[in-house]
Amino acid sequence: VAADPTSGSAFFATDRGRELIAHLDPARIPSHVAVIMDGNGRWARMHGLPRLAGHRAGAEALRELITAAIELGIGVLTVFSFSSENWTRPREEVQGLMGLFVEVLTRELDNLERLGVRVRLIGRTDSMPAPTLQAFLRAQERTEHLRTLTLVIALDYGGRAEIADAAASIAHDVADGRLSPDAVDEDAVASRLYAAGLPDPDLIIRTSGEMRLSNFLLWQSAYSEIHVTPVLWPDFDRQTLLEAVIDYQSRERRFGGTS
Ligand code: IPE
Ligand code: IPE
Ligand code: MG
Repeated sequence: VAADPTSGSAFFATDRGRELIAHLDPARIPSHVAVIMDGNGRWARMHGLPRLAGHRAGAEALRELITAAIELGIGVLTVFSFSSENWTRPREEVQGLMGLFVEVLTRELDNLERLGVRVRLIGRTDSMPAPTLQAFLRAQERTEHLRTLTLVIALDYGGRAEIADAAASIAHDVADGRLSPDAVDEDAVASRLYAAGLPDPDLIIRTSGEMRLSNFLLWQSAYSEIHVTPVLWPDFDRQTLLEAVIDYQSRERRFGGTS
């Protein structure tokens, strides 16, 4: 848990900020928060702007989420940036997004390094344009040693594809005699997922009011608490994050047991 979640932000000095902090239990901060950053298109339409302007505003919101997560002492933050199904969007939007990823990562890399953020990419990388993949690999390499926050970026990510890839890897190991079919258990699958070794998300936040997972972290979400907020992603800020964490802290996590 961070030493002092009240430091570093003017928001915490506002009435609403103080009220939220008073409700927060610093001993029960989720270790891993995953976010489905949805609603950029609707935000853009609301403001009479093209969809890409919504994605640009979304990148600013992500910046604030990262700072706020560090202030709260969250250790792992996974963000859904582009799904394996998002390739079906109009070419112009897909190209715009791929370019935006390069622009934002290049611009923010020094800042991420300064904050101690380790970047990790999850998803299939084979369809990604070379400059986009290069930017991510570079960020991954440059920040590998950092430990304040692990930022997992899900790009060309699909939960079913991830499980299918793990199944294929198991099949290869069995066929080559490295693994006995009887040894295929949950750990055998979990250890072959893209971000193997990271804890499962404690809390999944989805913005823009949609009550679905849209193929996000299907395996890892088995016992995640889910918080849906009507806030559109570009409007997401510290307050929205705090509200989500406080809601999470009000849940009783039973994991199939009894209270
Ligand atoms: C989320 O916002 C960003 C991506 C999926 C890349 P959307 O673009 O899905 O926004 P809406 O859902 O159309 O409002
Ligand atoms: C999920 O949002 C993917 C990301 C946030 C990157 P979508 O906007 O693609 O999800 P659906 O289509 O509403 O389910
Ligand atoms: Mg959407």
